[in-house]
Amino acid sequence: MERGGGKPASVVAVVTEPRFTQRYREYLEKQKLLDRRHRVEKMPDGTVALPVLGEALSEQHLRELRNRVAPGSTCLLTQLLNPVPSKKTQGCSPAQRLCLDVSRWAEGCGVTWSTDLEADLPRSWQRHGDLLLLSEDCFQAKLWKNLEPELWEIVASALGVRRLAKRGRISPDGTRTPAVSLLLGDHGWVEHVDNGIRYKFDVTQCMFSFGNITEKLRVASLPCAGEVLVDLYAGIGYFTLPFLVHAGAAFVHACEWNPHAVVALRNNLELNGVADRCQIHFGDNRKLKLSDIADRVNLGLIPSSEEGWPIACQVLRQDAGGILHIHQNVESFPGKKLQPPGSSEMEKEHRPSPQQIITNQLKNGASSDSRRKMQSAAIKPEWQRWAETTETRIATLLQQVHGKPWKTQILHIQLVKPYAPHVDHVVLDLECR
Ligand SMILES: C[S@@+](CC[C@H](N)C(=O)[O-])C[C@H]1O[C@@H](n2cnc3c(N)ncnc32)[C@H](O)[C@@H]1O
Repeated sequence: MERGGGKPASVVAVVTEPRFTQRYREYLEKQKLLDRRHRVEKMPDGTVALPVLGEALSEQHLRELRNRVAPGSTCLLTQLLNPVPSKKTQGCSPAQRLCLDVSRWAEGCGVTWSTDLEADLPRSWQRHGDLLLLSEDCFQAKLWKNLEPELWEIVASALGVRRLAKRGRISPDGTRTPAVSLLLGDHGWVEHVDNGIRYKFDVTQCMFSFGNITEKLRVASLPCAGEVLVDLYAGIGYFTLPFLVHAGAAFVHACEWNPHAVVALRNNLELNGVADRCQIHFGDNRKLKLSDIADRVNLGLIPSSEEGWPIACQVLRQDAGGILHIHQNVESFPGKKLQPPGSSEMEKEHRPSPQQIITNQLKNGASSDSRRKMQSAAIKPEWQRWAETTETRIATLLQQVHGKPWKTQILHIQLVKPYAPHVDHVVLDLECR
């Protein structure tokens, strides 16, 4: 999501030691990956964070930085929650330009410009190539209706796009369909390239979360060679594709009940040349007929994937077990201390509250699940508490479904993104044997 002031809510950054900053900067500039809208920042632990264009960053780039550009460097990914704008972008923001253009044009149409109208202009949006997706809380005054359709031409031109769409409420029916309407343009299909993977979808029918980039990169680095996976909430292939294209999964069973997302998913599997290693199961995953086949199950649904837990247990292999990646929005409260990684005793060690939480250390290529456990710099006690409750619930479900006791172990808790004030989207990697 871009803010109208030109300031996104958070940006992805690559973190390294200060002595490697110049080499990292040169490489990122050359690859057109450096985000020039934000300043390079010094982190509390003395390392340096270089803002990057997260969408274009791939696992290959991280590997190159670590192995070729600056051998021996630590290469971490982080989300800068309060990125500092660079000097260059401190002039006229897109929102100011929009206000100027729309107010001038509206006054030319006989409208008396007011602070209420100004406050009703968009302040944040998602950019999908030449299509801008506006959030639902703008253009709500009745007066705008009289200014359509020219109004949309003015807005699009001020913001440098050719198509405009506006978001409504995310539908509560479980498909997470965002009720998007097209304001300008004749279709809502857009394309994104993330970590070398092409995703095409219709923004008016399917959702896309920019905030999940760190998790997509992490998934891409998981050691899944030869594994059979079940992706219970496949959408347009956000995680199915990295599992197939980068993580080396042998086969993915992808479940999805939104017919529009299924069309996009099928298309994306073809586009990325992996359609022969994926079976799409169209319909409600709770009615899935599969059992005893999965080495790994992805449960990528927020606010909670709880309804999918019984089927996740059912599809896990009885002989060898496997790993569950369980997504959840976890509420936490300000002022709480952070917990060091690997510790299960809460509030044991006092750590400074991280404005920037290091979320993903992609060291030495594909790392093992156990090593990843050690890579989260800080976890909140609420995440740990939720993970422990979930572990207990899953152990009970496994016993019920398979009729014998299982061993479970929390491998890792990963922050995907801050979702709302005091709510974090996290993933629990739970080993079940
Ligand atoms: C949030 S999206 C997944 C995208 C990805 N996790 C992300 O955040 O970018 C969840 C997807 O799961 C699908 N879904 C939700 N409940 C489902 C169910 N019971 N059976 C099959 N698909 C389901 C929705 O249609 C949606 O496409």
